Amino acid sequence: MTFNGGSAKSLVDFQRGEISREVFVNEGLYREELDRIFARAWLYVGHESQIRRPGDYFVSCMGEESVILTRDPLGTPHVFLNTCRHRGMKVCRYDEGHTVHFICPYHGWSYATDGRLVGVQQYETGYQPPFDKSQWGLIEVAQLATYKGTIWATWDAAAPPFLDYLGEARIALDLALGAWDGGDGETELLGSVQKWLIPSNWKFVAENFAGDGLHVVSHRSVDMTGIGPTAGEGRRDNPGRLLLAMSPAWGHGITYSYLPPTTNRVEYAASPATSDYFTQCWERRLTKLGSQAGLQVVVGTLFPNMSMHGQQPRTILVAHPRGVATTEMWRVYFVDKDAPQEVKQFLRHYYIRYSGPAGMTEQDDMENWNYATAASRGTIARRHPYNYKAGLGVGGSHELVPGVVTDYPVSMSSEQNTRTLYRRWAQFMDANSWADLTPARAF
Ligand code: FES
Ligand code: FE
Repeated sequence: MTFNGGSAKSLVDFQRGEISREVFVNEGLYREELDRIFARAWLYVGHESQIRRPGDYFVSCMGEESVILTRDPLGTPHVFLNTCRHRGMKVCRYDEGHTVHFICPYHGWSYATDGRLVGVQQYETGYQPPFDKSQWGLIEVAQLATYKGTIWATWDAAAPPFLDYLGEARIALDLALGAWDGGDGETELLGSVQKWLIPSNWKFVAENFAGDGLHVVSHRSVDMTGIGPTAGEGRRDNPGRLLLAMSPAWGHGITYSYLPPTTNRVEYAASPATSDYFTQCWERRLTKLGSQAGLQVVVGTLFPNMSMHGQQPRTILVAHPRGVATTEMWRVYFVDKDAPQEVKQFLRHYYIRYSGPAGMTEQDDMENWNYATAASRGTIARRHPYNYKAGLGVGGSHELVPGVVTDYPVSMSSEQNTRTLYRRWAQFMDANSWADLTPARAF
């Protein structure tokens, strides 16, 4: 990619910790991102519990484009571009549901849940010679992967296998999606998806959850109000010692937390039933995992735009790009499937008090992202780079988690994860194909 005669790399000075504002406000770069990042990377599209039975479907998106996540009669999941092969009409206009066929409302072409074109109006009389319907099915992603209930897809056949793409962050996904007691139980979604638009570039969201401990100062009022699950101040129970871990090759950033096994964990004190449940989970977790029991994920971003809270609240957020200064937020929430109903209800209230369009913590974050986007678009503003210099040269290896790790207390003030995200962003933007992206390399 060239930009004003330079490359994307020229906009991201990883060594000095300086990043051009053009990365966040330039319309041309944004159009390039759709092609070079969102048409290449593995993207989160949904959860298996959203398509439990053959014929269930959930309409998701990849980049700006609508896709249908569905399950065929044999139980195989598929992801199709949500556009008719005849004249492009959106084949499925509902958010989720169950069907035998997707029938296009424009001229009536119909598609099976495995993507085959099965019905064409006036096919016998109107098409002589007949065209080969097998060549005109729904457009399907090049690769699909399921992992611990989550479903991922990429349009690029040359992308590496999903587990390679996860790299060092695999353990983070294991921790974030597993049952709270460390056993084999499932997690499930609480309700469906919260969706809302914000006037922000999508990368502000991605970098926030990749590991931006310094922004916590902006949640001061929420901490004072006390929206957390205890009876006192704060937003969360004690997360423990924080470890910032980046995946240098793949661009993922995770904030882990660690509590030693001797910890007397008292959580969710505002609800005795919930507190009892989590106390029992902690005891079972200690029995199963020993010294590793206290390792969990606080937040993380898997490149490019899937972010997760693995602890409190438990949730996945996808920051879908909708323009250089518009992002559509999709957030889902998780609970242990086997948790008592009273516990799920308590968590539901706590989660949406914290996150989502009405969540007080998320509102703080959105204020920052939205105003930062707007205040960076001007002629003068965009001449001056952002500063990502915190924690330069601090990270190293660590006995608890993989990747390049910065331990507490520096972890809260290091910008190593955000710098890494933009280094990977620049690699994607400059690469002509996955051949230039694997094995991933630093510069
Ligand atoms: Fe779908 Fe014509 S656009 S049948
Ligand atoms: Fe925040």
